Amino acid sequence: MARVALVTGGSRGIGAAISQALKDAGYSVAATYAGNDEAAAKFTDETGIKTYKWNVADYDESKAGIAQVEADLGPVDVVVANAGITRDAPFHKMTPEQWHQVVDTNLNGVFNTVHPVWPGMRERKFGRIIVISSINGQKGQFAQVNYAATKAGDLGIVKSLAQEGARAGITANAICPGYIGTDMVMAVPEKVRESIIAQIPAGRLGEPEEIARCVVFLASEDSGFINGSTISANGGQFFV
Ligand SMILES: NC(=O)c1ccc[n+]([C@@H]2O[C@H](COP(=O)([O-])OP(=O)(O)OC[C@H]3O[C@@H](n4cnc5c(N)ncnc54)[C@H](OP(=O)(O)O)[C@@H]3O)[C@@H](O)[C@H]2O)c1
Repeated sequence: MARVALVTGGSRGIGAAISQALKDAGYSVAATYAGNDEAAAKFTDETGIKTYKWNVADYDESKAGIAQVEADLGPVDVVVANAGITRDAPFHKMTPEQWHQVVDTNLNGVFNTVHPVWPGMRERKFGRIIVISSINGQKGQFAQVNYAATKAGDLGIVKSLAQEGARAGITANAICPGYIGTDMVMAVPEKVRESIIAQIPAGRLGEPEEIARCVVFLASEDSGFINGSTISANGGQFFV
């Protein structure tokens, strides 16, 4: 039977490319989203991948949503914690609300997504946890104290889960994309975007599919010895 993959924020941007690539690789895929029903319906029409709506920042919603996915498709073998947001502001202007929104979605959202599937993965002795972090979690970024903190926190999550899950056949890894041409980056003013591209040795933004190929690699049975690691996919912009 096909393995089941859950992709949070899997209806748009990087997540949509990940959902499609996992489907192409033979997985049964569930893609989640937060509120953009129109984009989710279009995505399902175009790909045949079922979408589920819940807020990853809410533990009870996540648990109930995952239970529904498992009732529909079977136990989740692969989790891609991809849903994420930005609420940028220089620190002196950052509001507590901007801080909490980003922490609740990008950091607590990873806990809320992985925690409900963890016991089942331990019992079945197989699991793949893949967290989509960011170059800015590795290097920090002006006006992104909130975002960079959560994305650095994601790396701590996978390094710890890797140690806890290894004996149970579960791996946990992170991908740190550089700047990828999705709505999140296209929302940045054009002048700022141009200055970002000027800092990328590859001379271009990344494609969502370039991140999706990393996910398919980490999800596979063959990647069992790769655990607690971080793949940087950033066009040469930053080396760890
Ligand atoms: N784009 C980049 O250059 C870049 C670089 C490094 C890292 N990343 C990371 O890659 C991931 C995907 O980014 P992206 O650019 O593809 O984002 P995007 O185009 O803005 O898409 C975000 C997706 O996440 C969903 N989402 C947002 N908040 C959610 C919540 N609270 N609960 C459930 N789903 C939620 C959205 O659902 P709706 O459609 O309903 O809004 C959408 O499906 C994020 O974690 C981001 O931090 C992106």
